[in-house]
Amino acid sequence: MKDKKMVIGIMGLQFGLRHLEGAQANGCEIGAICDILPERLKEYGDQYGIPEEKRFTNYRDTLNIGLDAVVLAVPDQLHRQLTIDFLNAGIHVLCEKPLALNYEDIRAIVEAERTSKARFMVGQICRFTPAFVKVKEIINSGKIGEIYYVESEYAHDYLHIIEDVTNWRADPKRHCVIGGGCHAVDLMRWIAGDPYEITAYGTHKLMPIVPYDDATVAIMRFPNDVIGKVFVSCGCKRTGSGMRTLVYGTKGTILCTSNAKTITVWTTDEAGNVNKEPEEVEVEINDHNNKAEIAAFIDAIVNDKPIVTNAIEGAKSALACLSIVESAETHKTVFPDYSFSK
Ligand SMILES: NC(=O)c1ccc[n+]([C@@H]2O[C@H](COP(=O)([O-])OP(=O)(O)OC[C@H]3O[C@@H](n4cnc5c(N)ncnc54)[C@H](O)[C@@H]3O)[C@@H](O)[C@H]2O)c1
Repeated sequence: MKDKKMVIGIMGLQFGLRHLEGAQANGCEIGAICDILPERLKEYGDQYGIPEEKRFTNYRDTLNIGLDAVVLAVPDQLHRQLTIDFLNAGIHVLCEKPLALNYEDIRAIVEAERTSKARFMVGQICRFTPAFVKVKEIINSGKIGEIYYVESEYAHDYLHIIEDVTNWRADPKRHCVIGGGCHAVDLMRWIAGDPYEITAYGTHKLMPIVPYDDATVAIMRFPNDVIGKVFVSCGCKRTGSGMRTLVYGTKGTILCTSNAKTITVWTTDEAGNVNKEPEEVEVEINDHNNKAEIAAFIDAIVNDKPIVTNAIEGAKSALACLSIVESAETHKTVFPDYSFSK
């Protein structure tokens, strides 16, 4: 594998196109593109110069054509089935987030990863966003001291994304806390660990078409006495969809929005006084860094390294999101059990 080009298949040609470009930018050969819509296959096959014999409408026809790896950018409800079929065929899988939409599917993917010789990665792309990578670096440097509070958000307007109830994003199981909110929850888990106590509230005023709350707030307890809050909306009325994220530490505070040019960092002097002028740390704007995500996937496969966003990580983020939904629906505090491998 080390000396040969990785041959990758792209399943689903919408967000999948970003992966296609990311794979090409990493020097991969595109061994297959697949979409159930023939018109998409033709349009994008032509656009990206993929020969007709590498275009498929049924992913099963790609299981035995010599692919090394696939990217799954199909509706969330299909993640389990395609992941298991490709892993069973010995093909490495980079599956889009969220890992899955219910506990049974989450466990099935965790089990498939455990028993397969092929590798699995879930596309929690915020871990590759330059701004958030920098935030992690600043936290790890000790500059803001010990974290005591973290908050993030995922606030988009899906008015023109979910135009009718047949859209897969309008499935009651595809609650926007799980579908989109998993980005913010995964980011907070990356920073503060697994939330073990979750209380949430939801409301429904923006997107009558969806059968779930379109705005949700959750407060949580994390290990090491850290508290946090996440806000998720799929109907918010504002422009810009950057994930505004704040990390408060005992010696300073970080404010970072995923699509802003700078991160603001407040620090303290030796006496504990806050320095008046915060530092503005410049970062590259790239809140969908598919290129770096695929690079990490390839590096893990080729050099036999651990995959940071493996199935267990994806499972924990998905479960934390399911717990938020459960808390908002039952009006009870939820204590997620992250022991998937039992
Ligand atoms: N990481 C991110 O920031 C991000 C952003 C957008 C979407 N996503 C995820 O990517 C996935 C795809 O989302 P999208 O926005 O591209 O959705 P989409 O509905 O716009 O596109 C999905 C594509 O998959 C095709 N498809 C459906 N069933 C298929 C099958 N069985 N085999 C092959 N192709 C099939 C559809 O025809 C469509 O072209 C979802 O899991 C979504 O949650 C992630």
